[in-house]
Amino acid sequence: MKKRKPVPPNEEAITDSKDLRMEEYSSFVKTALRRPYLRLIDSALSRIDSEKSLKILEIGCGPGWISLWLAKKNPGYRVKAIDISQDMLRAAENNKKKEGVSNVSFLNADAGRLTDLFGEKFDMVISNGSLQHWQNPLKVIRQSLEVLEKGGICVISDTRRDLTFKGKVIFRLGCFWLGIAGRRGKKMRKGWQYAVEHAYTPEELKDELVKNNIDDFEVITKPVLFTVYIRKQECF
Ligand SMILES: C[S@@+](CC[C@H](N)C(=O)[O-])C[C@H]1O[C@@H](n2cnc3c(N)ncnc32)[C@H](O)[C@@H]1O
Repeated sequence: MKKRKPVPPNEEAITDSKDLRMEEYSSFVKTALRRPYLRLIDSALSRIDSEKSLKILEIGCGPGWISLWLAKKNPGYRVKAIDISQDMLRAAENNKKKEGVSNVSFLNADAGRLTDLFGEKFDMVISNGSLQHWQNPLKVIRQSLEVLEKGGICVISDTRRDLTFKGKVIFRLGCFWLGIAGRRGKKMRKGWQYAVEHAYTPEELKDELVKNNIDDFEVITKPVLFTVYIRKQECF
């Protein structure tokens, strides 16, 4: 398996380019990734008392679909979502307006500054597709646990670098399809290839958690991605 290519510091944010505006990225996510995102949301909510008026923080929200779909599940939820890309947040604010959702707020902020940003505590911290970009993932995870209520859950999902055999087939077919889908498809394909090269493997993340004395977690692996559910313990 190839070694992970760490993301250079100036490439953390995903921004507009001549081939792809973030509104286009957003409409791709809304249509092509809706089902897996809704599955991630349901799986996260199944791990806490979702009947409560939850306070939720999303890290690296991009165009905001996870936060918006979470907020729509229950108008009593209060969702805050951060991203370092102004272009992504512009798309997210437009999506919020179009969807008529009022219980989400988007904020331009870095994942490495969670404890400075938030004095309040959350019941859930969730992040999808962003881990691979973080300069110091353990710092983000530790801070996520700090801003969580005791018993709260931190959910981190991302592409895996060690695609399974089925994952490689899905990846090749997906790349082929994007390659014939015009200018935007080609840019999305590049983005996906970049994501796989820069991603962690589930084992790498598990090892990091254990090394840092974080042990109340569960890892679910799928052919192209993995999700880690970390429970905030009493002693944290
Ligand atoms: C692949 S996108 C995923 C967007 C969204 N979560 C989704 O699943 O559609 C990764 C996002 O993480 C953001 N990001 C990367 N590093 C970040 C950081 N240090 N702090 C906050 N956001 C970050 C990028 O700007 C980008 O919007």
